[in-house]
Amino acid sequence: MALHMVNKAGEQDHSSVPRHIAIILDGNGRWAKKRGLPRTAGHAVGSETFRKIATYCRDIGVEYLTVYAFSTENWKRPEDEVKAIMQLLKRYLQEAIDTMERDHIRMKILGNTEGLSTEIRELIRKTDEISSHYQGFQANICLNYGGRDEILQAAKKYAAALQAGEADAELTEEQLGSYLYAHGIPDPDLLIRPGGEQRISNFLLWQCAYSEFYFTDVLWPDFGKAELDKAIEEFNRRDRRFGGVKK
Ligand code: IPE
Ligand code: IPE
Ligand code: MG
Repeated sequence: MALHMVNKAGEQDHSSVPRHIAIILDGNGRWAKKRGLPRTAGHAVGSETFRKIATYCRDIGVEYLTVYAFSTENWKRPEDEVKAIMQLLKRYLQEAIDTMERDHIRMKILGNTEGLSTEIRELIRKTDEISSHYQGFQANICLNYGGRDEILQAAKKYAAALQAGEADAELTEEQLGSYLYAHGIPDPDLLIRPGGEQRISNFLLWQCAYSEFYFTDVLWPDFGKAELDKAIEEFNRRDRRFGGVKK
């Protein structure tokens, strides 16, 4: 099925867009290096790209967009780079708080927020508060996020609940899933990784069990609407069987 079908009113029909798109925002550093700029310049442009792609996703009817912005392993990077990324995230959240109402965007931060600065945690608290008033498009930003960490902390929470007599001893996928950071968010239908690497790098390990993967060499700061359309077109050519057989 082609993405850009034209309906009777002559408008593009985006009815076949995936409900949930996840993106590993990769390639910022290389984008900057190619231009003789510091890696942090790539992160700054990458943050603008996120803004544009989030708006586009909302406009074409995607319900959830989840992006990987900082992993539990990214702390290994030079202190200056980590500082610059945190500064950009802080600015992004501050601006988002001002515009969420106008743009009707719900935002959720997924990850181990306890490892973040008090300033960023306060901004996360505010975005949660504002988001609770909205329905519709939801942008999830994975910050200090690791798929293994997410599963580990869910196991710990379950163990504590079990000990307190608040959880059933018969552990099910649903029950363990209820302790994940991404609880309540449907699994991604399409996972996109720009930047040329073909790996998952500890992203949404539980949730991507049946997601369709799309890899592209385009670096994240260069990723535009046309590239997203291409990924969605490719997604629409896939045959999702979830372990069953083709009808
Ligand atoms: C992704 O871009 C952003 C973060 C991981 C924070 P990179 O910084 O990994 O860019 P490359 O992969 O080095 O080009
Ligand atoms: C994955 O990118 C993490 C984010 C984009 C936040 P990395 O650049 O950290 O991953 P590797 O090191 O190439 O696997
Ligand atoms: Mg990278």
